[in-house]
Amino acid sequence: MDDRGPVLPESLEIVRGAWEGLPQLILDHDVAANNRVITLNRSSQAHAAFDMMRTKLLRVLRENNWTSVAITSPTPACGKTCIALNLAFSFANQKDCRTVLMDLDLRRPQIGKTLAIKNAGSMESFLKGDAVLRETFFRYGDNLAIAANRQPVHFSAELLQSATAARALEEMRQEIKPDVILYDLPPMLSTDDVLAFLPNVDGVILIAASDESTVREVDVCEQSLREKTNMLGVVLNKSQYTQEQYGY
Ligand SMILES: Nc1ncnc2c1ncn2[C@@H]1O[C@H](COP(=O)(O)OP(=O)(O)OP(=O)(O)O)[C@@H](O)[C@H]1O
Ligand SMILES: [Mg+2]
Repeated sequence: MDDRGPVLPESLEIVRGAWEGLPQLILDHDVAANNRVITLNRSSQAHAAFDMMRTKLLRVLRENNWTSVAITSPTPACGKTCIALNLAFSFANQKDCRTVLMDLDLRRPQIGKTLAIKNAGSMESFLKGDAVLRETFFRYGDNLAIAANRQPVHFSAELLQSATAARALEEMRQEIKPDVILYDLPPMLSTDDVLAFLPNVDGVILIAASDESTVREVDVCEQSLREKTNMLGVVLNKSQYTQEQYGY
């Protein structure tokens, strides 16, 4: 059986609304925690750092009437996906706020893998306008939606800056009406995907990895991002020197 459940007749779907029509995501909290997603069940004290990051971010977004946030890093493996997921589940506890998390690291999608989602949709189909919301997004609880991606996309930069992708995202915003959208993006020094997508976001968070990212890499990325969008913060991840594992 398709574990997304039966697709409702269109008329009923309209009655329920786009949000209610999204299939519900059931997660294994232990798998998530093993993959360092700790805000789901608060399995580590580090959740407090994410809650603080969430609250600061929400204040800036609300003050400026912004919604969409890109998460990137200079080089691979700085912790973007990990931080995007922890932030998303921290936002899920903010009940007056509807949040969307999308895996737009099209070359190396990892959100589905990190959460062990078996039936992720195709982000390429969604961004090309060939897949509808309920084929792409899951609803977790009452106020978080997650769009994983089951397969890499070859012409990712071209797709990310296409008019069809901008239209698909705009339709999603109109139907789901999120207060916050978090985009898990690729690292920015190796491809042009991030620069291609920046016109679609209000601001960006840059993740640097302690002992891996150099000051020069962070400087180059920050400067390039500041020219094109609003810098919302730089996160120093994997730091040995803070009491919690995460610095902001
Ligand atoms: N604060 C941390 N402390 C220790 N390990 C971490 C921390 N944050 C992330 N990691 C680990 O580092 C690895 C890379 O993390 P993650 O996949 O989130 O990075 P990424 O920037 O999304 O990578 P990619 O560029 O490949 O998408 C994972 O194994 C993750 O569990
Ligand atoms: Mg990643």
